Amino acid sequence: MTELSEREIDSLVEAATSVRARAWAPYSGFAVGAAVLDADGCVHVGCNVENASYGLSVCAERHAVAAAVAAGAEGFSAVAVVTDSSPPASPCGACRQVLAEFGDFPIVLVNLAGERRMTSVGELLPNAFGPESLAES
Ligand code: THU
Repeated sequence: MTELSEREIDSLVEAATSVRARAWAPYSGFAVGAAVLDADGCVHVGCNVENASYGLSVCAERHAVAAAVAAGAEGFSAVAVVTDSSPPASPCGACRQVLAEFGDFPIVLVNLAGERRMTSVGELLPNAFGPESLAES
C-alpha cells in the first residue's frame, strides 16, 4: 500500500470537510463528506444525498467513488471520510464493498474536532468478495 504524506492526508481531509457542508441530509441530520485521492494525485469528492423516499439516499463515499470513476481516475490511493461523530464514523457495509472494488488503500476517518483514525479497506472489509473472486469461478 502507498505511504501517504501528511500533506496529502491534510488536503484530502480538507476536501472532504468542505464537501460535507453541501450534504443533503434533511432526514437524518447526519452530514458526511468523502474525498478520494487518485493515482495521479487528483481529488474527487462526494457528500451524502438523502431523499424523501429514504431508501434512495446515497452515501458520501459511494458518491465520491462515482465522481472519481466518472472523472477517469485509474487507481485509488486513499479516501478520507469526515463526519461530526466521536469517534469518527466508519463507512457502512455497502460503501466498504464499493471501496473494495478498487483495491486496498488507506482510509482516514476524521471528525470536526480533529480526531483521526487511520485504517484501510483491508482492515474494514477483510476477505472481501472482489473482482478476483469472479476470476476464480
Ligand atoms: N452515510 C454515509 O454517507 N456514509 C456512510 O458510510 C454511512 C452513512 C449517510 C447516509 C445517510 O444520509 C446518513 O449518513 C445517515 O445514515
